[in-house]
Amino acid sequence: MRHRMIVIAAVVACAAAAGATGTASVPVPADRDAQRFFPARDLMKIGVFYYPEHWPREQWERDFKNMAGLGFEFTHFAEFAWAFLEPAEGRFDFGWLDEAVALAAKNGLKVILCTPTPCPPAWLGEKFPEIYLVGADSRRKEHGTRANASLASDVFVSYTRKIVDELAERYGQDPRVWGWQIDNEPEAPPDFSPAARRKFQEWLRAKYGTIDGLNQAWGGVFWSTRYDSFEQVLIPNETLVGEDKLSPHAVLDFRRFTADVQAGFLLLQYDILKKKIRPEQWVTTNYINVTSSSDPRRTDRLDFVAFTMYPVRGEDGLGPDGFRLGSPHRLASALAYFRPITGVTGVMELQPGQVNWARINPQPMPGAIRMWLWHAFAGGCSFACTYRYRQPLFGSELYHTCIVGPDGVTPSPGGLEYARVIREMKTLRSICDPKASLPKRLAARRTAILWNHDNLWDIENYKETALWDTWNHRFKYQAAVKSLGAPVEYIGEKDDFAAYPFVIAPAYQLVDKELVGRWKAYVENGGHLVLTCRTGQKDRNGHLWEALWAGPILPLIGADIEFFDLLLENGRGLVKMGDGEYEWNTWADVLKPSAGSGTDVLAAYANHFYAGKAAAITRRLGKGSVSYIGVDTKAGELERRVLRVVYEKAGVAVEDYPPGLYVEWRNGFLVAVNYSSEAVPVPVPAGAKILFGENPLRSADVLVWIER
Ligand code: GAL
Repeated sequence: MRHRMIVIAAVVACAAAAGATGTASVPVPADRDAQRFFPARDLMKIGVFYYPEHWPREQWERDFKNMAGLGFEFTHFAEFAWAFLEPAEGRFDFGWLDEAVALAAKNGLKVILCTPTPCPPAWLGEKFPEIYLVGADSRRKEHGTRANASLASDVFVSYTRKIVDELAERYGQDPRVWGWQIDNEPEAPPDFSPAARRKFQEWLRAKYGTIDGLNQAWGGVFWSTRYDSFEQVLIPNETLVGEDKLSPHAVLDFRRFTADVQAGFLLLQYDILKKKIRPEQWVTTNYINVTSSSDPRRTDRLDFVAFTMYPVRGEDGLGPDGFRLGSPHRLASALAYFRPITGVTGVMELQPGQVNWARINPQPMPGAIRMWLWHAFAGGCSFACTYRYRQPLFGSELYHTCIVGPDGVTPSPGGLEYARVIREMKTLRSICDPKASLPKRLAARRTAILWNHDNLWDIENYKETALWDTWNHRFKYQAAVKSLGAPVEYIGEKDDFAAYPFVIAPAYQLVDKELVGRWKAYVENGGHLVLTCRTGQKDRNGHLWEALWAGPILPLIGADIEFFDLLLENGRGLVKMGDGEYEWNTWADVLKPSAGSGTDVLAAYANHFYAGKAAAITRRLGKGSVSYIGVDTKAGELERRVLRVVYEKAGVAVEDYPPGLYVEWRNGFLVAVNYSSEAVPVPVPAGAKILFGENPLRSADVLVWIER
């Protein structure tokens, strides 16, 4: 079956009233309305970064004109420009920015303005060297790069307040300013400065009240590590120990503290901006897509949370061209993670071509940039912005491909792909059906992946096997669910599990009895819960339970976890499910179904001394089901097969998409993208109308259709 692109004649105006993204689901909390910033009829706006301070003024107008000529709808200024906005203490210079905003607006471009806090100016560091972050090696950072300040420094925070307030005052009522980005790619590196130590002590005092409380939580009786007072407490410094470990509970608290400080720094800026800006301007930040130090959910008070995305980064993907197509997981993961936080998201930086910062920086596959943009649209982005318009001629990012090349005017191949998608998006806007709602077959499969950064931090600090990778574990489940054609969203513990027929909690190591009780109620009321290896081993402090292994979850899963096994790099563990055999070497919980619990064994170990024992189990409970997958396989195929059984037993029809094929529904459109190196046939129902693309879907290509 081959379909040619069909131009749709019917033009249906797309009402602003419909939900902005019109994507699959999202129970938006009643007090949040981030969708008001992005009328549904706009679908996804596309823009590009520009640094006026890098170029002669006489080129600005030409650049904005050409930018608009390519179709871009907004631009993005100033996240690194503190030295130009406040060239000397208390002397603010907005003249250049005024001019840039005016020229952008004259050319029909909205402006995203940023707070410049990643780049404290030289005068500030010269006057107060203590504003810099101190690394685990006790060395203080210095001027000459970015993201070098200590967010625990009251001095740095006081200067932050001033510059943010000045910016809000100057541009907060300016209708040409669309919205704000706070800081840039906020990460939370560990900070060993004296200010951080003092703040950590205060944080601990607020958490534990008494030093005895802290000693108990940190296991202070172990190796006499107890403290007599909060003033004595040191920041746990893992670089100072060898084979022995620091208290994992202290390390976990330090990671929580560091993420809190970082989130507090963003929220402080948010509150300053919000006091002065017009209600039409939004405020966000741009997290790295899988961030291990900062925790985006800690800033769920922002209007929405955006992310950055560079899929081709010198890593393998699917098949021989995978390294040019990009990770099949990253963008899918960011879309599913960031949008549910407030119901809206956007990709603030999307790779336009080769980057400069990976170990090896290959060319993306022709078409891949367009494919990522379509994937971003399909996954619900209200905007996509690319980094950056002009290729820099100086500085740290010389080889970074941009929308135009080093001459400042000639579009790069990626620039032309952007221009193409912008045209396609305009066609789509003219035909979108505002009344479209998520097809029932997709709603029946909606799946939440429950996520809490505490688990990531605790596991990564104490992996028990060097082969374990928490992100990979998560990606395996995400890929498995996507292969079933299910809409996926990451949710947190505050969210309503019952909004999803299926909930997966991967390697959910830290639990409490309340959470386990909520899981049980969810299942009894008809939900289908899947827990995976490592789940339930510890309490929220990271202590083991004084009980059978993973005691609190055992009555729920209807089995005991007899022990777990870990193999060496070259180890070959085998699991059997039906006629299939699957290899593992990272983690294997060996399960023993409890008598009378109705537990069915779905997969069993096939070698080593526990051959024949259960590796994956499922049982009915109340109106729902609970399954436990105790093994982490190499390719994730067993996980995929078990999930298929769980959905089928629940009476829900699923797809069988090959790896790298994503199919998403948005605003009545179905969009398929192909991250694999081969063409794949996409199951498109008879009677569907293809808008863009051809079936079978080539590698790095896009297929868009409407079902009637
Ligand atoms: C991002 C960063 C940008 C720029 C870009 C280059 O991670 O936020 O400022 O450095 O990488 O690819």
